[in-house]
Amino acid sequence: MTLTNRHLVLRSRPTGMVAPSDVEVIESPVPVIGEGEALVRTNLVAIDAAVRTWLNDQPGYLPPVEIGETVRAGTVGEVIESHCDAYEVGDVVTTFGGFSEYSVCRDDIFTTVVGRRSLGTADIDRAELLAVFGSTGATAYFGMHDIGRPQPGETVVVSAAAGATGSVAGQIAKAAGARVVGIAGSDEKCSVVVAEFGFDSCINYRSEDLNVALRQHCPDRVDVYFDNVGGPTLNAVLGRLAMNARVVLCGVISSYVTGDHPGPSNYVQLLARRARMEGFNTLDHWDRYGEAEAALRRLVDSGQLRYRSQVFEGLERSVDALNALFEGTNIGKTMLRP
Ligand SMILES: NC(=O)c1ccc[n+]([C@@H]2O[C@H](COP(=O)([O-])OP(=O)(O)OC[C@H]3O[C@@H](n4cnc5c(N)ncnc54)[C@H](OP(=O)(O)O)[C@@H]3O)[C@@H](O)[C@H]2O)c1
Repeated sequence: MTLTNRHLVLRSRPTGMVAPSDVEVIESPVPVIGEGEALVRTNLVAIDAAVRTWLNDQPGYLPPVEIGETVRAGTVGEVIESHCDAYEVGDVVTTFGGFSEYSVCRDDIFTTVVGRRSLGTADIDRAELLAVFGSTGATAYFGMHDIGRPQPGETVVVSAAAGATGSVAGQIAKAAGARVVGIAGSDEKCSVVVAEFGFDSCINYRSEDLNVALRQHCPDRVDVYFDNVGGPTLNAVLGRLAMNARVVLCGVISSYVTGDHPGPSNYVQLLARRARMEGFNTLDHWDRYGEAEAALRRLVDSGQLRYRSQVFEGLERSVDALNALFEGTNIGKTMLRP
């Protein structure tokens, strides 16, 4: 019997937020796998900010999704058929399965075995995996551990602090002994950032003057800034850097929808404060996934790392799920069960 696959394809490139007419849920036969391939049934789709950038017609670190193609996204799923030595039936994998009930993977950097039924390690909380141990947690770990390198007593600022990456990044810095200040877009988010994620304080950038608030919340200036948003927020924090500060350029979500990247005039503070600003891409460090996973596991087990997740049910909710990140309505990791 031929199984049916439901998946979300791109019909037109969005201008601004994704419109329902930009995408369509369609049905097609489940792919027949060839030699070197495995078939994965998707459990959860990760709603990452990068998905929106792949819908634009500009090449980034991955090519744009073509019109008519399944919308690309990171996923966690289970191998149900394999013609590839790297994967066994029953393996739990993270892969780029896209907004799709089924996908095909190969033995490459995009697919990682995170549990194996034959070894008794497949009983994994899939939502926790995407929220903490998958690419979200690894991004926070690589950015904070390799570039930010917070020291005890230093002041660390994190933007999009209530979001998936920011909430984990701030907790990593807190566990390293730093004083951690979040920046988020509502009073509710700021409360969660302090009460649940354990930051020392949080600035609501929508209701407060960010320059004034940064002086109040960071009296000793900013040693590490983990930047998820770019734009005016980046500019304001650059104006408050301490000597030898490190700015971790993780993402620029404030301009993913407009495609406009205004330069930060305060970049001269990098010179004045002998500071460093460095971008990174988690995929470049994927061979160290085990190191990130182990470090994050220690923090979760010791109660130093908490997470939140929100699951949208059904491919029909894809547009709502994607836009939530850009409307700022999400707290923690956003995901979708196809
Ligand atoms: N370098 C890498 O390898 C890598 C890997 C993964 C993710 N990232 C980056 O990490 C960042 C966070 O991604 P995520 O998936 O974890 O999303 P997220 O933080 O869970 O959600 C995005 C958040 O960004 C904030 N935001 C949205 N539009 C904004 C705007 N115009 N100005 C300021 N803030 C805005 C919103 O929070 P507020 O309500 O607080 O504004 C929203 O909740 C993104 O920039 C993403 O590209 C980088």
